Amino acid sequence: MAASIENRGQFGSKLGFILSAAGSAVGLGNIWKFPGKAYNCGGGAFLITYILMVALIGTTVMLAEFVIGRKTQKNAIGAIRELNAKYSWVGGLGILTGFIILCYYCQVGGWTIKYIIAYITESATVYADPTAYFLDMLGVNGFPLEGAIIYPLIFLGLTSFIISRGVADGIEKLSKFLMPLLFVLLIGLMIRACTLPGASEGVAYMLHFDPSTINGNTFLVALGQAFFSLSLGMGVMITYASYLSKDENLITNTGVVCVLDTSVALFAGFMIIPAVFATGIDPGMGGGFAFATLAGVFMSIPGGTIFGLLFYALLFFAAITSSISILEGTVAYLVEEKGMERKKTVVWASIIIFAIGIFYTLSQAFLPIKGIWWSMEGLQFPIFGDFMEYLTDRLLLPFGAFFTTVFVGWIWGTDNAIKEATSDGKYKFALAPAWAILVKFVAPAAILCIIIAGLFLGMSIS
Ligand code: TRP
Repeated sequence: MAASIENRGQFGSKLGFILSAAGSAVGLGNIWKFPGKAYNCGGGAFLITYILMVALIGTTVMLAEFVIGRKTQKNAIGAIRELNAKYSWVGGLGILTGFIILCYYCQVGGWTIKYIIAYITESATVYADPTAYFLDMLGVNGFPLEGAIIYPLIFLGLTSFIISRGVADGIEKLSKFLMPLLFVLLIGLMIRACTLPGASEGVAYMLHFDPSTINGNTFLVALGQAFFSLSLGMGVMITYASYLSKDENLITNTGVVCVLDTSVALFAGFMIIPAVFATGIDPGMGGGFAFATLAGVFMSIPGGTIFGLLFYALLFFAAITSSISILEGTVAYLVEEKGMERKKTVVWASIIIFAIGIFYTLSQAFLPIKGIWWSMEGLQFPIFGDFMEYLTDRLLLPFGAFFTTVFVGWIWGTDNAIKEATSDGKYKFALAPAWAILVKFVAPAAILCIIIAGLFLGMSIS
């Protein structure tokens, strides 16, 4: 990220920006996290709640981040500092959020590499007992050297290498081919999974909408997941939009990115949940749906192993474009605001992220870290990994999003924001009055509710 406005690059095309923003948004959150949450929170009831949260709050916050970024043409922290220096500490909180997310993101990213290799070298072993294979990677049979150390290290190493060499550009160019491929593959696999014998129960579960199964927790989980999946609450979209020219229509960009990201999550949901019902592979632990359950789908297709390989390769790619966006935000802050040297910062950040992250995988099966967090009435932190997700999805990202909406709605002002969103009136924004209400009242109130509920309820549900 260039330091001065004159030197700053801009996205060469509209497609370049959409790909970068979608590349950040589409990741493990859509394919690894989303189906598990949909499964645990009542299927159809969760889907409806999730779509509602994205449509009302997600789009509102995303446009708010885009507007701040393009207005100031600065990275997230610089932008907030420019608009109001009093609040730059929020940037520090964003850095903490990024660190915590990366701790587990790189572990699961490493698992995707493990599975790429598994489908090349020992697909028969995976098929023989997909759950056992997955749990073995997590360490039920001994120290998980590959799952916790080797592959996460490779994933984090690649992310850091790309960041420190500043070659993220090349990655974005690759996105042009690989993202559409991921889209097509997901649709194909979804159709296959939904037509497996026994899958219709899963499809019914995902389509069954029973309002009585919706409760406060459904909203908490859906909103936290929406922020994570859309890459909101950490200033990533502020930074990306800071490279946009005034000619771009921020309003349609918001729509496109939200629709793309949500479609990928829905495809993944309708691929994995029917497969759970059809194959009976419910790994239960460590969000294993995207790993263990899918083996049942690949087994059932001619040439399935090739599809499996392609799937994990694309999942790996989706994950690395997201991890780059998180680490870039963190490193850019330390370099630009704290004057640290770029390569050193990347190395130190990676060492810390890796050292803490190991415990994410270890806590799934190997180490009995369940219960070392306090378990007071109403506040339970049973697994270290869940605790990290709880901190980021339920507290820190919502806090960042809350701040963003209050900032745009009340401090900077919706009139200024709408002016920027429409490029000084160049583009139509029919929903501007609705957006102003959402950004000033609805979004901050809803987000505040989930932060408070998160603090009081702990992580009794995820
Ligand atoms: N959205 C990504 C995913 O779904 C993860 C991610 C990338 C993210 N950048 C972020 C989450 C910034 C929160 C904030 O996998």
